Amino acid sequence: MQRLFPHPADDITLLEAYSAERPGSAERPWVSLCMVSSLDGSTVVDHTSRGLSNPTDQALLLVLRSFADTILVGAATVRHENYGPPKAAHQRIAVVSRNGDFDFDLPLFTSGKAIIVLPENAPAVPVPSVRAGTDTVDLALALSALARDFGSRIIQAEGGATLNGMLVAADLVDELNLTISPQLSGGNGSRLTVGAPASAQRMRLAHVLEDDGFLFTRYLRAR
Ligand SMILES: NC(=O)c1ccc[n+]([C@@H]2O[C@H](COP(=O)([O-])OP(=O)(O)OC[C@H]3O[C@@H](n4cnc5c(N)ncnc54)[C@H](OP(=O)(O)O)[C@@H]3O)[C@@H](O)[C@H]2O)c1
Repeated sequence: MQRLFPHPADDITLLEAYSAERPGSAERPWVSLCMVSSLDGSTVVDHTSRGLSNPTDQALLLVLRSFADTILVGAATVRHENYGPPKAAHQRIAVVSRNGDFDFDLPLFTSGKAIIVLPENAPAVPVPSVRAGTDTVDLALALSALARDFGSRIIQAEGGATLNGMLVAADLVDELNLTISPQLSGGNGSRLTVGAPASAQRMRLAHVLEDDGFLFTRYLRAR
């Protein structure tokens, strides 16, 4: 793995490259979004991200998870990518959903590591939950509730595009770790975000790494 920017260097490890201060607080957890995209902007091939990834990208996901206490993910991604429980004992997976319609016999939900993030008026669920907003989740309030009730300070958001759109709409993305996969994938797959109103939230480039034609970019909130 080589670093192209800043300070070009060979043989950089993922841990070296991505270790950084992430100043999350009880008032406002740090939100780091991790995604992989094709050159033509798609985030899926055949309904999952697997066809866009490579072993280094998969290793990166684990390194980034190691910095987080909470993994935030959209309900459709949990369903499409068969999310299991997190490996680290201290981690929780918080799943954002409108209605909490899941198979609660799946290992993610029987593990005791799942939290469902729901609107106030959603039906009851048999696992711990956080509730914020009416009809749809108010993510800013939900993150505060995760901090208050579950001690969340560093949140690794892992998509999909609908959840990302909600995060962007609420101006909650502090860090974006975007892998650019060296392929034109065609199709009609979602880009990184869908559903957010048009805006221009400036991000600052923190680094670019390269491995096997894949680019591993890290951006931080510019303000
Ligand atoms: N390339 C990548 O890095 C990457 C990363 C992650 C996922 N993906 C892919 O992206 C696809 C899924 O993305 P997606 O955009 O369809 O779905 P998503 O963001 O994973 O989840 C969407 C779901 O979240 C819930 N939701 C959405 N808006 C909500 C709101 N305002 N309030 C409460 N809940 C809300 C709803 O859940 P309910 O239906 O339960 O109400 C909705 O169906 C999958 O194919 C996955 O493989 C790619």
